[in-house]
Amino acid sequence: MRVSKAGRLVVLVSGSGTNLQALLDASADPSYGARVVAVGADREGIEGLARAARANIPTFVEKLGDYATRAEWDEALASRIAAYDPDLVVSAGFMKILGKPTLDAFPVLNTHPALLPSFPGAHGVRDALAHGVKVTGCTVMLADEGVDTGPIVAQEAVPVLPDDDEAVLHERIKTVERRLLVDIVGRMAREGWTVSGRTVRIGNDSGGEST
Ligand code: GRF
Repeated sequence: MRVSKAGRLVVLVSGSGTNLQALLDASADPSYGARVVAVGADREGIEGLARAARANIPTFVEKLGDYATRAEWDEALASRIAAYDPDLVVSAGFMKILGKPTLDAFPVLNTHPALLPSFPGAHGVRDALAHGVKVTGCTVMLADEGVDTGPIVAQEAVPVLPDDDEAVLHERIKTVERRLLVDIVGRMAREGWTVSGRTVRIGNDSGGEST
């Protein structure tokens, strides 16, 4: 089985970019094994792009509304990403589903603020809170064509506290999410990784199966 690496990262953002910042901070140390070579967005004027600019990382923006069809936008986004020859694309708060042109060309890692397969979609924190769960968390997974349906790489639980609102709970999750994403991307870069069906293994990790 081919072992993939993850040294060159293109990170996609739509908002504040704190997950991006965590990756930028981690990759300042060469021993981390991965570095952000470009940051892409689907909108202008966001803090995620400002963070990239401050770190002297090249940026690009492809807005869906600038294209006649979604298929054209998908092609345009894939070709902007390809220009940076990434080993791994990290969708870090990018609020668009990626199309086949990107998914077929690159492995894409995604992060979600809930314990999948519970509460997929754009409102994972709100939906978990509305359901009354006592534990939620975050999931790092490979992206596929579905909404938060790809193979899970790692998950971590976060407690829901009695007085939580969506913003407070999301911040508690994001503190864990940033650390988990940085850890997983670094391990994928340093140790390599394989995917077989829905099982993702990093390095010699047995993936929980007995050998
Ligand atoms: C993260 O919780 C991500 O999982 C969700 O949106 C948030 C993005 O945060 N889709 P940031 O832009 O990285 O600060």
